[in-house]
Amino acid sequence: MTSLHLHAPTFEHHQQPFGIGEPAPRLSWTVTSDVPGWRQQAYEIELSDGTATGRVESGESLLVPWPGTGLRSRERRGARVRVYGADGSASDWSPWSWAEAGLLDPAEWRAGAAGPPLDLLGVPDGPALLLRREFVLRGRVERARLYVTAHGTYEVELNGRVVGDDVLAPGWSSYGHRLRYRTHDVTDLLREGGNAIGATLADGWYRGRIGFMGGKTDIYGDRTALIAQLEITYADGTIDTVVTDGAWRCATGPVTGASLYDGEKHDARLLRRGWSEPGFDDTAWLPADLLRHDPARLVAPTGPPVRRVETLSPVEVLTGPSGETIVDFGQNISGRLRIRVQGPAGHTVTLRHAEVLEGGALAVRPLRDAAALDQYTLRGDAGPEEWEPRFTMHGFRYAQVDDWPGELDPADVQAVVCHTDMRPVGAFDCSDPLLNRLHDNVAWSMRGNFVDLPTDCPQRDERLGWTGDIQVFAPTAAFLYDCTGPLASWLADLAAEQAELGTVPPYVPWVSLLFPPAPAAAWGDAAVIVPWVLYQRSGDLGLLRAQYPSMAAWVDQVAGLTGGNHLWDEGFQFGDWLDPAAPPDDPGKARTDHALVATAYHAWTARIVADTAALLGRSSDAEHYTALATEVREAFRREFVTPSGRLACDTQTAYALAVCLDLLDGPEQRERAGRRLVQLVAADDHRIGTGFVGTPLVCDALCSVGAYDTAYALLMQRNCPSWLYPVTMGATTIWERWDSMLPDGTVNPGEMTSFNHYALGAVADFLHRTVAGLAPAAPGYRELLVRPWPGGGLTRASAALETPFGRAEAGWERAGGRLELRVVVPPNTTATVHLPSAPSRPIAVGSGEHVFTCAFRDPADDPGPADRAAIMEI
Ligand code: BGC
Repeated sequence: MTSLHLHAPTFEHHQQPFGIGEPAPRLSWTVTSDVPGWRQQAYEIELSDGTATGRVESGESLLVPWPGTGLRSRERRGARVRVYGADGSASDWSPWSWAEAGLLDPAEWRAGAAGPPLDLLGVPDGPALLLRREFVLRGRVERARLYVTAHGTYEVELNGRVVGDDVLAPGWSSYGHRLRYRTHDVTDLLREGGNAIGATLADGWYRGRIGFMGGKTDIYGDRTALIAQLEITYADGTIDTVVTDGAWRCATGPVTGASLYDGEKHDARLLRRGWSEPGFDDTAWLPADLLRHDPARLVAPTGPPVRRVETLSPVEVLTGPSGETIVDFGQNISGRLRIRVQGPAGHTVTLRHAEVLEGGALAVRPLRDAAALDQYTLRGDAGPEEWEPRFTMHGFRYAQVDDWPGELDPADVQAVVCHTDMRPVGAFDCSDPLLNRLHDNVAWSMRGNFVDLPTDCPQRDERLGWTGDIQVFAPTAAFLYDCTGPLASWLADLAAEQAELGTVPPYVPWVSLLFPPAPAAAWGDAAVIVPWVLYQRSGDLGLLRAQYPSMAAWVDQVAGLTGGNHLWDEGFQFGDWLDPAAPPDDPGKARTDHALVATAYHAWTARIVADTAALLGRSSDAEHYTALATEVREAFRREFVTPSGRLACDTQTAYALAVCLDLLDGPEQRERAGRRLVQLVAADDHRIGTGFVGTPLVCDALCSVGAYDTAYALLMQRNCPSWLYPVTMGATTIWERWDSMLPDGTVNPGEMTSFNHYALGAVADFLHRTVAGLAPAAPGYRELLVRPWPGGGLTRASAALETPFGRAEAGWERAGGRLELRVVVPPNTTATVHLPSAPSRPIAVGSGEHVFTCAFRDPADDPGPADRAAIMEI
């Protein structure tokens, strides 16, 4: 008895297709089938309005065009699918999935922007203010939707209950171009008769302080405001709309200070009990000001919001050198504390945060100009009081709790982990606990830095969407979490800012701090590489189509900067940022020539744009960029490569770039370059010698020239600098610097030292693709490449991924000179499997579970010739 089971279809990249902005959302579905090699022959889609495609002969199951008329604003429509296999099988109809559109036309926004009057508005990062109004329902409510966003960060309440579970809504986007609103189903929060809606509004990214070196305030404006439209549909079909307008009233509340960097102050004595419920007396409140806003900027989100994703309990309570109480949560996170405290009215508890301890005390120097300090002043009327700040965020593992009334019970302090609520999709495991911890640290650094946008760090006065960081980390990110939706939003911001500024700024959203937005290689190249990586991993060609003007404009700009010789050798560069040899106070002082890095990237991104143009059917563009890529590659070789394959820069990064980006001429140059790279790594005692640019490539470069054992020696190295050194130092996230903490336990003296930066964790993609052996061979993992390369003394390794077609796995285990490889291929896909035995012949397989065995011996167990490539070829 075989079974063919179809999961409910999904819409675009939405996890919850509610209030979506796409009128014709593409549909995807996955199948489970126990028939080996199952292929889809045809599909049938039915929409809840009766639209039916009939049988469509197609194997496509990923991002299939919406078959019906476009959704109208507010419209909810269902979709279901059934499929037919090439083997004659037929599924039942899938369950229905439902999508509801948000407001698709700016003209449908009747809400103004209601802002606190100037008399109440404090200095930036001052008090969070309350806004409210009441309304009366006319009859039985059929459905109610709240469309809401703000200039600032907000939390909305209806009749005393918080609406939704978003944290720091509306998140940070390039507000000047795109401000995301959320749609909430609030039907159940309404009641007969009198109702009240209220919002707490803080400055957030809109008006609060953002950026390093003192930062900036009032970046998007000096007046915060709520933009809310509550639409109530009665059972009789009539509609009432309550919008933000001059009828709202405003007052101060218990939050007396709220800063993303500095923390939150909450005086519970100032709580206005019942303020978001009907019947509250707001006559002493001031009328809100009606401010201007442009509804054309309002867009629906393409990814999930930031939420409270997990709660951690203390693992230990420590006493610091001055007798202070320090709570250790055992894990470096982005989030904040939740406390339960009982004590006298007016008593204030102070909470400080830090990622690491130095000399047993909180190490706050890495926070630079972010106070990361929360204060709660007790109401003191009977019973324990619970509190969690709502308008700030910290990066921390340790919290110092000062002035706690009485004895601190660890159960009364929890750490609430907050980040973009992405679906975890990828996993890795192996026989080495340190490598597993490294992988966990990478995942935690992704979590800590996907706080709405892909940021550099969650703790200090920065937290910016640095383009270079996500450029190198994107392949790893796309494996660990379903982040296509969130990154698509960030890329839309990038394109909008690029169009305005004439270049891709080094971080997005751009905030003008000390320097103008200058183009820089590997950072600006994110405009091309991030969409390309997302296309490879998600199969979404539409994303490439949307980003194409931005991708091409970037390459055109760089081509212009290089002048006639195609070498990008002038102007500012970050280069191989944080080369381990760079001094603590000069992280850009890398051993690899900036011009080599920049020209290599130019050749790479020109080629990607050529490939993209070809995919999009833009043949003359494809020709143009292909020619450009070829010319840049030639220019690179002329300038930086000797005829025999030595590079002008004798560094790990230079060779990694030349090998991985196909910048060498023929097998001889490659072979020579490969040998030199092996020598360089050996000369560094198998310690890492790369910064942001070389790190994601160096192990791949070594493997691609057959130097697997050198790659493993680098990977398994524990001495500083290496990937595992921080793990041996107790790291729970990826550090910004190879030596953010020095071997003696002191914090690196560089003023830019974070313990939660994902860039150097980009090696995780190598763990997935090569150590475990699970890689995409066609966009969206429509074809898999399973080519594990065991080594490093590991006795097993495995990776699993929820691909767009279903679950894929690759895992090997070895003992007694034999290796067993287990592969799971999702339905409707194929895999090419390479066994790590000589001679290795590729094996083509279809969906299902496959187990292979072969002879295998790891030279790490049996030291012999330096590199196994030699052994394999015997
Ligand atoms: C950030 C980086 C970023 C770099 C570039 C740092 O302050 O934290 O991750 O890419 O600056 O200058």
